[in-house]
Amino acid sequence: MKLRFKSTTIGAVNAPCRGKFEAAYQISHYQRSKSAMKGEKMKEKIKVTDYAKIITEMLPKGILLNTNGDKFNSMVIGWGNLGTLWGRPTFLVYVRQSRYTKSQLDKTGEFSISSPLEKTMPLISKVCGSMSGRDIDKVKEAGLTLEEPEIIRTPGVREYPLTLECKILYSQDQDLAKIPEDIRERMYPQDVPGTEPMANRDFHTMYVGEIVDAYLIR
Ligand SMILES: Cc1cc2nc3c(=O)[nH]c(=O)nc-3n(C[C@H](O)[C@H](O)[C@H](O)COP(=O)(O)O)c2cc1C
Repeated sequence: MKLRFKSTTIGAVNAPCRGKFEAAYQISHYQRSKSAMKGEKMKEKIKVTDYAKIITEMLPKGILLNTNGDKFNSMVIGWGNLGTLWGRPTFLVYVRQSRYTKSQLDKTGEFSISSPLEKTMPLISKVCGSMSGRDIDKVKEAGLTLEEPEIIRTPGVREYPLTLECKILYSQDQDLAKIPEDIRERMYPQDVPGTEPMANRDFHTMYVGEIVDAYLIR
């Protein structure tokens, strides 16, 4: 894929000139989404690197990892990495074995990331960070408003407008034996069942998501 260094205006979602790099990194303009045409929200395409500071500062406070397998579900994540792998823009997430989210990721091979620009919302943090999609409908309980995706099948969340659409390129289970002992003891206590929302006995699987689209929901 030849990189383009100028902003490009794109009318149709799947216009042939719209390469992955352009979509994720280089387009900076307003695009009317299907919903915007109906007089609803608009998506402002962004260069992800312009938002690296916000994403990395919001992460430890808890942003959303959204999946759409048997149903739409959002889980709070505090760990993640924005960067480049194999020459592609990527976002890495770390998901413990017993999360409902893990079964959805393995089924669909994709996810979206939703980050607030300034502040997390207490109800969203509570519902999406301590309850499982196995037991409840988080859209209803957390009052989430879903925004139609552009490239993948997983919506974004309007309440947290900074959105990354990601396709999973690679995944790898953590090897607990290789994790420094002090971290292993704190983060992976073997006497805590995997159903606990925070630190427990489960290791994480790392999922490398290629960022195929990035925008703000306005
Ligand atoms: C601030 C915060 C950060 C979290 N980060 C992660 C994470 O990076 N990976 C993970 O597996 N769980 C993380 N969790 C826990 C999950 O959000 C929680 O267990 C959630 O209920 C799982 O939802 P699910 O079963 O619907 O997938 C975090 C929770 C909070 C509150």
